[in-house]
Amino acid sequence: MQLRSLGRDDLPEAVALLDVAGLAGAKVNLARYLRCQPRCGWAAIVDGCLVGLVTVLRQGTAAFVGAMAVHPDHRGARIGRRLLEHGQDEARRDGVTTFLLEATPLGEHLYRKLGYVSEHDTLIVMNVRAGLPPPAQITADLVAIARLDRAATGVVRDDMLIGLVAEHGPGVAIHRAGELIAFGMIVGDRLGPVLAKDPDAGREIVDLLAPACSVSAVPEPNRAAVDALARHGFVEARRLRRMRLGPAVPIRVDRIWALASPGAG
Ligand SMILES: CC(C)(COP(=O)(O)OP(=O)(O)OC[C@H]1O[C@@H](n2cnc3c(N)ncnc32)[C@H](O)[C@@H]1OP(=O)(O)O)[C@@H](O)C(=O)NCCC(=O)NCCS
Repeated sequence: MQLRSLGRDDLPEAVALLDVAGLAGAKVNLARYLRCQPRCGWAAIVDGCLVGLVTVLRQGTAAFVGAMAVHPDHRGARIGRRLLEHGQDEARRDGVTTFLLEATPLGEHLYRKLGYVSEHDTLIVMNVRAGLPPPAQITADLVAIARLDRAATGVVRDDMLIGLVAEHGPGVAIHRAGELIAFGMIVGDRLGPVLAKDPDAGREIVDLLAPACSVSAVPEPNRAAVDALARHGFVEARRLRRMRLGPAVPIRVDRIWALASPGAG
């Protein structure tokens, strides 16, 4: 088995593997992760075929692990472990000290073996009633959005936000006394990221955007967000476990109303 960097040319094979592995979100987002950080992905190759991959997105001194998949025919042979350890080693060389992720039940076995601990559950919620057109969106102040995002997630992911807004934005925002206090956007049929400094502003963003979306991911401890989405018909479809390796980051789950994606936080 060989480990090497995952390139844009690997995308068709990688997307097919994510499909087989049941990682629908990663399948949609992988190309964007590679555009944002061309050296964030790692591939495991056996007999010339891509049998495993993982992405490790740098977010300041933290990094977010996503798209972790090994082909079913090759599972249990420590390919997942070797891929992730390799990605972590490379990130540590760049000064990363904390790794974050949203684990599926299968992934959780692997992450626990590597020393990851649980932080909270994240609900994947779905809405069968979705379908209304999205509201008119505003021109976003990227500097203010990045500041709001840092204060909520505790990490620095300005490059990802700029890429998201450029491709899918601009999003909707709420200001109070000249300050941006909430921001949200829709990516495809997914609601998120949604960030808000207070519950009223978070609810307002959800009320504006949720009717046009069919899926979202929300930290379970943010009950106000879970309830706001439930009022729009979103019900729990499955859950992920947010896990961490290394020192905690100053996350404020009460300010995170919807994740950008399970592979980027
Ligand atoms: C999660 C996944 C990538 C693991 O890949 P893998 O190559 O089979 O994992 P490894 O063989 O490297 O296992 C690493 C460790 O985890 C343990 N482990 C892995 N899968 C396990 C399982 N289903 N049950 C119990 N332990 C498990 C192994 O025993 C091993 O421990 P060891 O190194 O001490 O022997 C693979 O199951 C997969 O692609 N699943 C579907 C997609 C998915 O859910 N990805 C996670 C997204 S968060």
